[in-house]
Amino acid sequence: MSITQASSKLRVALLGCGVVGTQVVRILVEHSDELAARVGARLELVGIAVRDTQTPRESVVPQNLLTEDAETLVENADIVVEVMGGIEPARSLIVRALGAGATVITANKALLAQDGPALYEAADAAGVDLSFEAAVAGAIPIIRPIRDSLAGDKVTRVLGIVNGTTNYVLDQMTKHGLGFDEAVKDAQALGYAEADPTADVEGHDAAAKAAILASLAFHTRVALKDVSCEGITHVTADDVAWAQRSGHVIKLLAMCEQSDDGVVARVYPALVPHEHPLANVGDAFNAVFVEAENAGPLMFYGQGAGGAPTASAVMGDLVSAARNRLTGAKSAGESTYADLPVLDAGQTDTRYQIRLSVADKPGVLAAIAEVFAEQGVSIETVTQALRDDHEGYASLVVTTHQGKEAALAQTVETISRLDVIEEIMSVLRVEGS
Ligand code: NDP
Ligand code: HSE
Repeated sequence: MSITQASSKLRVALLGCGVVGTQVVRILVEHSDELAARVGARLELVGIAVRDTQTPRESVVPQNLLTEDAETLVENADIVVEVMGGIEPARSLIVRALGAGATVITANKALLAQDGPALYEAADAAGVDLSFEAAVAGAIPIIRPIRDSLAGDKVTRVLGIVNGTTNYVLDQMTKHGLGFDEAVKDAQALGYAEADPTADVEGHDAAAKAAILASLAFHTRVALKDVSCEGITHVTADDVAWAQRSGHVIKLLAMCEQSDDGVVARVYPALVPHEHPLANVGDAFNAVFVEAENAGPLMFYGQGAGGAPTASAVMGDLVSAARNRLTGAKSAGESTYADLPVLDAGQTDTRYQIRLSVADKPGVLAAIAEVFAEQGVSIETVTQALRDDHEGYASLVVTTHQGKEAALAQTVETISRLDVIEEIMSVLRVEGS
């Protein structure tokens, strides 16, 4: 079909016209002819629901399409694109849209991680697609590769940097010595951070993405509450400097693993060695490693946040959903047949680097080593340096071999109560070495 031939139309309703929505409008307007040729029908933007129609917007947004009546809009569309975020009214509007027979595309990882199963059921009942490529890792195609390209393989591990804001913050702290608050403000101004950056810096955004990835990869429902989550708010400039000195950078990682016992999903800041590919993922970029039994390791890399990159992923879903509507096809829905046990993070293996301020006197090292031995945690290296800033005290950096997360956490807890310990300065997991 040529660019001018598409005569049928699909009505597209947009919920939200912020960082992402504005870019979706721009692409729909600027590339309408090419999109029509690719789909075989014109994608007609019939309305844009926002909180306040009077808010000044970019000139590409047609003022006459703005509405505050999202309920009516979703009932009169073939395809609804939800980029407003939050739980309500996004959830009710999506359910309403699906109930009215519309295909739904969403970038809303918080909602999917919390209420995904109910939304999939509503989409199944209506026989329409629910697509969400933009919900994980911005522009990077990761949902479709796991759901479709690897559908004939067995995924065993998904590991990556899936939050652009925290990667940007840690990168700025590492490369430019920026303070935490200053770097977060920059990330907000650049449109990477959520309106409330707590979700980013506390790891909740990455945890929602981990829940989505683990559910897809392991054909098992993994909810947000199943993901153990630690953010980066406690990471200090001192931690970043120490990491550099020991040949590492600090990255917020999402880790989803399948073992013989079940599946586990975790989010935590970790020390990653300089030579590891994840160490070189800078700015707001994301990178996801997927390991599958037959494919082996795969790596996906790209812009993980921001208006245009995220809109690219939305548009990919929009084109394929539109094609499906024309042919009557439907993409794969939720797959939960494996129904594996979701394990407690304490039972997973990990390595710690623990930085302590200790009294510089005989017997200190022995007392600390005894606690590790009692918990069955094996020490790999210990380095000690006298503190210039604190007479009579030394910094002790202990790196462990792999041990059970619960045993390591108990070790740290017990050590913190020893008289010879002045302070536990940081506890970070070590990955990739
Ligand atoms: P913004 O806060 O920039 O935009 C939200 C939009 O939704 C605004 O236009 C707002 O209207 C509208 N809106 C919010 N609440 C309502 C409501 N109750 N009724 C009607 N309209 C409403 O968000 P983003 O564009 O950054 O994010 C949108 C979604 O995309 C979120 O789910 C987010 O997690 C996800 N996402 C964002 C990425 C990013 O880099 N920003 C990347 C990947 C996913 P008004 O303009 O009038 O205030
Ligand atoms: N706030 C999110 C991030 C947006 O920083 O990664 C992309 O999901």
